Order: sequence, then C-alpha cells, then structure tokens
Amino acid sequence: MGGSNGAAGKGLGGLILVLVAGVVALGYLLFKVFTSGSGVDFSRPTMTASAVNARIAQVGTEKVVEGGAPGTRSGQAVYESLCFSCHATGAQGAPKFEDVAAWSSRIAKGFDTLSKHAIEGFNAMPARGGGADLTDDEVKRAVAFMANKAGASFEEPKVASGAVAAADPATKGKEIYGQVCMACHATGVSGAPKPGDKAAWAPRIKDVDAMIANVTKNAKNAMPAKGGYQGSDEEFKAAALYMINQSK
Ligand code: HEC
Ligand code: HEC
Repeated sequence: MGGSNGAAGKGLGGLILVLVAGVVALGYLLFKVFTSGSGVDFSRPTMTASAVNARIAQVGTEKVVEGGAPGTRSGQAVYESLCFSCHATGAQGAPKFEDVAAWSSRIAKGFDTLSKHAIEGFNAMPARGGGADLTDDEVKRAVAFMANKAGASFEEPKVASGAVAAADPATKGKEIYGQVCMACHATGVSGAPKPGDKAAWAPRIKDVDAMIANVTKNAKNAMPAKGGYQGSDEEFKAAALYMINQSK
C-alpha cells in the first residue's frame, strides 16, 4: 500500500476514509448476497426451467418482459419473466405462487381490485411489478394466471385478434424497406419509384397483386427480382406494400 506518501496528514486521512468506505461497501455486498432471496434457487418446484432462464436474462437486462410483442404477452409469460422475481419466493411478503392460503384472502377481493392493485401498485408491490412497458391487459393476464394457480377461476383478457396480425407485416415491411429497398427507392436511383411519390406509383398499382407477383419472380429494368432481398416472398410483399401504402 503506497499512494499516501505525499501530504502526510491529509493523505492519511483520505486513505482511512477510502478504507472505511471500502469495508462498509464490501460488508453491505456480502450482506445482500447472503440475505436476498434473489439467488437462483433450482430446488424450488415453482421455478420452471424457463422461469430460471428468464431470471438469468433479467439480471443482465433490467425488467425485460419476454414472450412476444408488447400487448400480446400471456399471463404465464409475464409471470415467468417478471412477477415471479418476488412471487415465486414470497419476497417482501408477496403472496407466493401456488400458495392457496396466501392467495385466498386476495382472491376474495375480486379480479378488478386485484388488477387495479397490480397496475397501480399496492404497498411493497410496485406498479405493474416494475414492468413499465406492460399494458393493463398484460398485467391483468398475469394476475389471472397467478390467482388461478391458487384456486381462482378468473379469465385472462384476450389478445385482440386483429392487433398482432395487422401490425406485424407492416412492421416487418418497414424494417426490410430500411435494410434493402431504401438504397434505391429513397432517392429514386435508376428511376425507382419513391415512397410517397403518387405520380410514380399510380400507373404501377392498378393491379397491385400482379405487379408484386411479377417483380417477386422477375427483374424489371434496374429493379432486381425481389429487389435483391433474400427473405421470403411474403416479406418482400410486405416491404412493397409498405412503400405502396404511403403512395396512394
Ligand atoms: C418487487 C417485488 C414484486 C414484483 C416484481 C411483483 N410483485 Fe406483486 N406483490 C408484491 C408484494 C410485496 C405484494 C404484497 C403487497 C401487500 O399485500 O402489502 C404483492 C401483491 C400482489 C397482488 C395482490 C394485491 C392485493 O390486493 O392483495 C397481486 C394481484 C400482484 N402482486 C400481482 C403482481 C403481478 C401481476 C406482477 C407482475 C406483473 C407482480 N405482482 C410483480 C411484490 C411484487
Ligand atoms: C438496386 C436498386 C433497387 C433495390 C435495392 C430495390 N428496388 Fe425496387 N425498383 C428499382 C427500380 C429502378 C424500379 C423501377 C423499375 C422500372 O419500372 O423500370 C423499381 C420498382 C419497384 C416496384 C414497382 C415494380 C413495377 O412493376 O412497376 C416495386 C413494387 C419495387 N420496386 C419494390 C421493391 C422492394 C419491396 C424492394 C426491397 C425489398 C426493392 N424494390 C428494392 C430499384 C430497386
């Protein structure tokens, strides 16, 4: 240990301070490690393999709720990637998963009250369990999932059927446009029709399906077949529609 040679009094005081702070921090860390319930406990029957994986994933990336696009995640997926972090062990007095006795008085409050508490927070239960990007319905699904495992028969709010189907291709199309098609279409290289240029698109979209089918299989002048895209025909179509929908 060197370092404090210089200004004797001041340097020594500083060193002691640093040492004390270090010891306190180390002590606190050890305390946390031995007392926190957040270690991965493989012996617990309530921890499924996927829950364990989810917990491991969660350590690296704060509160990532897996299991699908926001709005579409099931109660089980939300539970296994977030709520279980307290509810599997009963940390901080959380009613424990599958513990009928702990849940019965909660279930008696009714689904609406439980959902409200889970969404808004309730004592040591944080709002949405800390999952800021969870929709109300996703939280409710997790409430129903947990309560049902402890004797309730609540119904998980359904995923709106159109929502995923309609949103997905559009998102994918936009992504592919950005990766592949934009290179020519954004600036109109070699006469590529630009998204939003209604005049350029009008003659092409009289029969959209036939036109897309054609450039899916064949090159057209400077437009390579599928624009050179290597993925599926469906995805190419989604990218074409992404441009066309802005150009009507
Ligand atoms: C940080 C720990 C923690 C997380 C994460 C967590 N909970 Fe909780 N939860 C608690 C605690 C603690 C309580 C008990 C609060 C009380 O009764 O004072 C509780 C209670 C509840 C209750 C009962 C409320 C009532 O009115 O009795 C529900 C329902 C609930 N949690 C749902 C969820 C859902 C759904 C998730 C995941 C989206 C979740 N919790 C994530 C700690 C947590
Ligand atoms: C290398 C440049 C280039 C790339 C990359 C490219 N395009 Fe094109 N695209 C063109 C050109 C040039 C035309 C105009 C062809 C013509 O009508 O002469 C065109 C035309 C089109 C047309 C209209 C075809 C028609 O019959 O009028 C569609 C639809 C289209 N592209 C979709 C796409 C999609 C979707 C992608 C990305 C997956 C893409 N393109 C990538 C250059 C490109």
